[in-house]
Formats: sequence, structure tokens, C-alpha cells
Amino acid sequence: MLVNTTCADTFFKNDTKSSPIGVFDSGVGGLSIFNCIKAQLPNEQLIYVADSLYAPYGDKSDQEITDRVNVIANTLLKLNCKALVVACNTATVTAIDQLRLRLTIPIIGVEPAIKPAVMHSRNRNIGILTTQATANNKRFLTLVDKYKLDTNVHIQPCPGLVELIENNQLHSLAFDNLLTKYLNVLKEKQIDTIVLGCTHYPFFAHKIKEIIGNNITIMETALPVTEQLKRQLLKHEILNNTVESLPHETQYQFFSSEANEELSCVMSTLINIPINLLALITTKPST
Ligand code: DGL
Repeated sequence: MLVNTTCADTFFKNDTKSSPIGVFDSGVGGLSIFNCIKAQLPNEQLIYVADSLYAPYGDKSDQEITDRVNVIANTLLKLNCKALVVACNTATVTAIDQLRLRLTIPIIGVEPAIKPAVMHSRNRNIGILTTQATANNKRFLTLVDKYKLDTNVHIQPCPGLVELIENNQLHSLAFDNLLTKYLNVLKEKQIDTIVLGCTHYPFFAHKIKEIIGNNITIMETALPVTEQLKRQLLKHEILNNTVESLPHETQYQFFSSEANEELSCVMSTLINIPINLLALITTKPST
């Protein structure tokens, strides 16, 4: 099935509480957030969009990322979403402010857990793994400055990891070698806490422990993001309290701007549920 963003009217519903929540990322990474929302808010209908045709966002310019965020957000609005979760650190730091100015529905973003990491670190050395775009981003660097206090913060951009995950290479030697290369830099800095600054990264948290040692503390953001989403839904009185027995494929819908069998398999494997991946045809942003 193809969904053209200009003709998705069949998805419109009137009842806001039972309307879906849109969750999106450049690719499969936002599924780490999707998973948590699914577990914590089981009555909610979720629509996940992977903007795979434009992945990774990490090597794109601010303008390119902002354009894609606007296109996907407009698409999710047409699918009658009552709230949006920008399940991508790169998209959040680059484009969430302008999105919030434009739209009136709750928009929840993902930011690296710098403050909790600073509070947790005993030796005052923390590492943040991010995409290149996040590492260069002013909003992100301001956040680091705001929360770091007396802590040494080592920002490690990790180009290549997202691409390998998207291409079903998470369990390859190439992936392990590249990850080891990035982690070795942090090892030398003797960090005791690692912040995962990209939503693709929780899918290899276990590998980080294998490479760097079990004593490392890993900070993820899926739960705080989900809690923030819940607070916003409650505040706007749109939390779905009704237990609806929707068929699984109606409650959870998955779209990609580059839907294919392999991607569908990658997504199913990552979240351990069968996925019927639908194609999403996006049009140019109108802003
Ligand atoms: N999952 C993303 C993030 O959290 C995007 C990675 C990318 O597309 O480069 O930043």
C-alpha cells in the first residue's frame, strides 16, 4: 500500500483521545523510543515513520534536516496525529523549535541525558556518543555547557554506525570494528558514564558494555521521553484511557520513505513484532 501525503484523508478520525501519536526518525533508531511508548502507554495507537530515503540525518545540513522534519510532521498531521514524538536527537536539536512555533499539538523531542550523566559520574568524566550533525549543533553544545558543571564532557561523533544499522549490519564485524574505534577514544579519557546521543544507539548498548566493560553506566532517554509524552497528553486531556482491542496492525502502523522487504525485516527484528511496512510518498515542504 502507498500513502501519498496529499491524499491520506482516509486516516482522518474525529475523536482526539483515540487519535494516533506520530513517532518519527531518519530511520529505524526511533524504534527504541517507540518500544518504550508501546510498553508504557498500551492504549495508544502509534504511527511510526522512518525517513529512510533521507537517512542518515547526521551528515545533512540544518536546512536539509529541517525540511525533512517539516515534511514528515505535515504527513503525520494529515494522518490525524494528536501528538508528535521527534524520536531523533539530530532532528530535535536542529528543527524542533521551529516545529513547535508552527504547530499547536504537543511535540516531544529527544535530548541526550547530559544532566543525569553529570549527576551520576563519580570520576567527573563522561562521554557522549552522537551523530556528526548533533556534535556540531549549537543548541546541543549549549546544553552541554549548561549542565556539565565541573565534569569533563567528551563528545564522540560516530559517523557510519547509523548507516550500518540501517543496512542490517548491526551484527557485523565492520560494525564492531567501527564501534571499538570510537569507544577506544573514550576509554583513553577514562570515562565512567556514556550518554547515548542518538536513538539508534540503544540497540547496541550491550556491545558497548562488552567492549568497554560492565562498570560503565549507560544513559538512555526512552523512558524520560515517554514520561514527558504522558505528561503532555494528560495536560492536553488527550491521553487514551480506553482499552481498545484493535488489531495489532491497526494499533501500530509503520511507514518508510523507502519501504522494502529488508528494511521491514530490520525493523521487525529490532522491536520483535511483525511489521507490515508501508510506503510513504512525501512531497516537498511548503514552508
Ligand atoms: N536516530 C537519529 C538520532 O537520534 C538519527 C541518526 C541519523 O540519521 O544520522 O540522531
